[in-house]
Amino acid sequence: MAKKTKEEWKVFENVFDQFTIRTLQSLSGKGHFDGLKSPISLGKEANVFTAEKGDDLVCVKIYRLESTNFNAMYKYIRNDLRFEGLSHQRRKIIFAWCQREYRNMMLVREAGVNCPKPIAFANNVLLMEFIGDEMPAPMLKDAPPRDVKKFYDAVIDNMKKTKKAGLAHGDLSEYNILNHNEEPVFIDFSHGTLLKSPNADELLERDVKNICRYFKKLGLDVTEEKIKKSLV
Ligand SMILES: Nc1ncnc2c1ncn2[C@@H]1O[C@H](COP(=O)(O)OP(=O)(O)O)[C@@H](O)[C@H]1O
Ligand SMILES: [Mg+2]
Repeated sequence: MAKKTKEEWKVFENVFDQFTIRTLQSLSGKGHFDGLKSPISLGKEANVFTAEKGDDLVCVKIYRLESTNFNAMYKYIRNDLRFEGLSHQRRKIIFAWCQREYRNMMLVREAGVNCPKPIAFANNVLLMEFIGDEMPAPMLKDAPPRDVKKFYDAVIDNMKKTKKAGLAHGDLSEYNILNHNEEPVFIDFSHGTLLKSPNADELLERDVKNICRYFKKLGLDVTEEKIKKSLV
């Protein structure tokens, strides 16, 4: 597909503010994608789209600048050693949230975690590899694995690698794991906090709890203790 013209970007004016449109145009101008294609998800803090890049698709996550959740975001990110000095300004917090997700994905990919390859970020926009074939890969909650034990083992392996990379995901559940052709792909790393940070244990604990609850429901004989043991 050819690059979007000024007129074509106008379509998005009702969806995004001018600042976000300019950020999208700038990323597109750098050759990261041609134009947005279709919405995948409209979440609490972010909208996720597919975008075309030549014949390929990439994934664009756009944090909404008017996010009303920024006080909670501030509370979380302030604990992260990398963002200690962050000021309490809505935009700065949202940009930091976006940057943190990018940095976390870089960190864990390096450690071999199965997650989308981060491509670029600017302000409140994050570009990453699109996970799916023609359609986006479904969330684990909507596509339970065929071989539960095998999938569970792969999830544990990815959790282990995340921990080894020095990170607690912090929002891991069947909502933030995609089932891509029976392989788990971890997504949504914006809560991810360095393990050295003061609240990391709490986040890791929460991840273990969620994963335990989900696989127990599918009939696996797991406990939180067992999971914690297999992470060390
Ligand atoms: N790289 C990706 N490829 C395909 N689908 C994705 C990708 N990233 C996110 N999604 C889809 O968008 C949804 C929302 O993304 P997520 O990062 O979890 O944001 P939110 O903060 O809104 O939960 C996911 O549940 C998933 O269905
Ligand atoms: Mg999510």
